[in-house]
Amino acid sequence: MRVSTVVAKTSVQNGLNFSREPHARILLPDVSPSYATPLGAAFAGDSRDLMARLPEASVQLVFTSPPYALHFKKEYGNVHKDDYVDWFLGFGKEIFRLLRDDGSFVLNVGGSYNAGTPTRSVYHFKLLIALVEELGFHLAQECFWYNPAKMPAPAEWVTVRRVRIKDSVEYVWWLSKTPWPKANNRNVLKPYSKDMLRLNQRGVRETIRPSGHHINSSFVSVEAGGSIPPNVVEEEQAEAILKFGNNASNDQFTKRCKELGIKIHPARFPTSLPEFFIKLLTDEDDVVLDPFAGSNTTGVVSEQLARRWIAMDLSADYLEASKVRFPQVKN
Ligand SMILES: C[S@@+](CC[C@H](N)C(=O)[O-])C[C@H]1O[C@@H](n2cnc3c(N)ncnc32)[C@H](O)[C@@H]1O
Repeated sequence: MRVSTVVAKTSVQNGLNFSREPHARILLPDVSPSYATPLGAAFAGDSRDLMARLPEASVQLVFTSPPYALHFKKEYGNVHKDDYVDWFLGFGKEIFRLLRDDGSFVLNVGGSYNAGTPTRSVYHFKLLIALVEELGFHLAQECFWYNPAKMPAPAEWVTVRRVRIKDSVEYVWWLSKTPWPKANNRNVLKPYSKDMLRLNQRGVRETIRPSGHHINSSFVSVEAGGSIPPNVVEEEQAEAILKFGNNASNDQFTKRCKELGIKIHPARFPTSLPEFFIKLLTDEDDVVLDPFAGSNTTGVVSEQLARRWIAMDLSADYLEASKVRFPQVKN
């Protein structure tokens, strides 16, 4: 009998994941975290300075959503569009340095209107080009987050004059340090559609489509365990999001904050967004970093998926509030 030599690196005790790899906080030995969990640690401070202290090639995935260049500013402040690329490149340089060669940098950034006219800024495209052409990142794939709960804004163009339509996607630039980042789409397969299952049972006639694609029986094979997802990430239940807002999946967090009288972070992304990319781009025990962590959605998803993690945010208050996501951390 062959004995497997593969040893599970992560163990589960009392329902919590533990890693046999060194804890992620040793990557920042001189800074005390706001709090730590079995797999990660959250640090308050300017992430450009904090990232400069992380060792080179120490992180597998940077997944983040920085403040966007918004016309209507959020309480945590937003850099103006004209200064945005220069401002962000300071962070981008550190991210490039600390990523492993097969690592990825996934950046969620929203679009924005120009002031005074119904025209869109191209700042997020300029940022993408600068990250590739000035810092040396590769564009692995441009992805999108479908968020049907976005407000129909700016009201002046969308609901009053009715000359623009509702914006429902945000950009998710998947960048990598080399052309070959670690990735496995088998980890994010979606259930086959009813049509696909029906076709598989019925079988398809071999044909050549007008586009030139050759269709044969392998076209409806369901042996792969699921269908390959598109580059648009959406909540499983779009209807629920429409009813409850885009943070339906963060409900536990919202509820806990309300119970404890804690102010809720104003710009969280849903857990499904980091979940998709963490599964696609990392394995258990890999290190995931979010340098603009806010309510630490990335950290809590990493913890649940048995990845080690580091979170950073300028606001000690946001990190303090994010503790409620981790039942094992005392408030
Ligand atoms: C869009 S929010 C991120 C929200 C997060 N994705 C979540 O789900 O809660 C951006 C965050 O960046 C933080 N921030 C802004 N400038 C920063 C800096 N220089 N260093 C670290 N964090 C910063 C803000 O405090 C804010 O919480």
